[in-house]
Amino acid sequence: MPAVALHVADLRFRWPGQTAPCLDIPHLEVAAGERVFLYGPSGSGKSTLLGLLGGVSVPERGRVEILGHPLNALPARKRDRIRADSIGFLFQQFNLLPWLSAIDNVLLPCTFSALRRDRAGAERSPVAEAGHLLTQLDLAPDSWHKKAAELSVGQQQRVAAARALIGRPEIIIADEPTSALDAERQQVFVDLLLRETAAADAALVFVSHDHRLAAHFDRRIALNEINRAVQEASEVVP
Ligand SMILES: Nc1ncnc2c1ncn2[C@@H]1O[C@H](COP(=O)(O)OP(=O)(O)O)[C@@H](O)[C@H]1O
Ligand SMILES: [Mg+2]
Repeated sequence: MPAVALHVADLRFRWPGQTAPCLDIPHLEVAAGERVFLYGPSGSGKSTLLGLLGGVSVPERGRVEILGHPLNALPARKRDRIRADSIGFLFQQFNLLPWLSAIDNVLLPCTFSALRRDRAGAERSPVAEAGHLLTQLDLAPDSWHKKAAELSVGQQQRVAAARALIGRPEIIIADEPTSALDAERQQVFVDLLLRETAAADAALVFVSHDHRLAAHFDRRIALNEINRAVQEASEVVP
């Protein structure tokens, strides 16, 4: 595995209609297996940066490399393949398919990536691996076959985390996945996610505006400190 999970150089991005760039980041690197807490106020560009790191958006300028692959130099198909194989996403609203069971939601990445399906099936079957991850994340078997829509918010969050982890992607990208929980349950969830990310040898980029959750990460990064566009951005926000 390359020693560097994510590498960003001279990254610049502006949303259509914005006069000033939203992001202007000279340098950012996340090592393989490193767990990073990225924080900043609402509207500071955290989700925008995650979209660029995941190859969902394309920068106006600069480089984003995932495991040594230069995303912006690749055709869209290849970018999609690297994303599906190498990145587990954990979203603020979880983005579960409500009509699918918990287990089937966890298995979704294995339908988009043969690599993750093979890895999920390496020690046990992919279904058994999904159950194993849900168990590690404290979701009891009586919930595994319930539709996602019938689960509590806390249970949905665990399903979303297991889905990000299945098939051992090298990078987990988590965008404020705790904001729907109370403070105590947030910390419990973050600790579970850190433990399981370490068990999978994955790098983690965890975004939050709540600095109280930062304690157990390897590194803390303030977006406003690495983003040169922050001065200009604050001028256009009333
Ligand atoms: N899809 C979009 N189209 C246009 N502007 C956007 C879009 N998403 C976010 N923005 C703008 O980009 C800036 C950063 O937003 P965002 O990355 O969502 O911040 P954060 O995740 O830190 O709250 C904001 O000014 C926001 O209005
Ligand atoms: Mg956001």
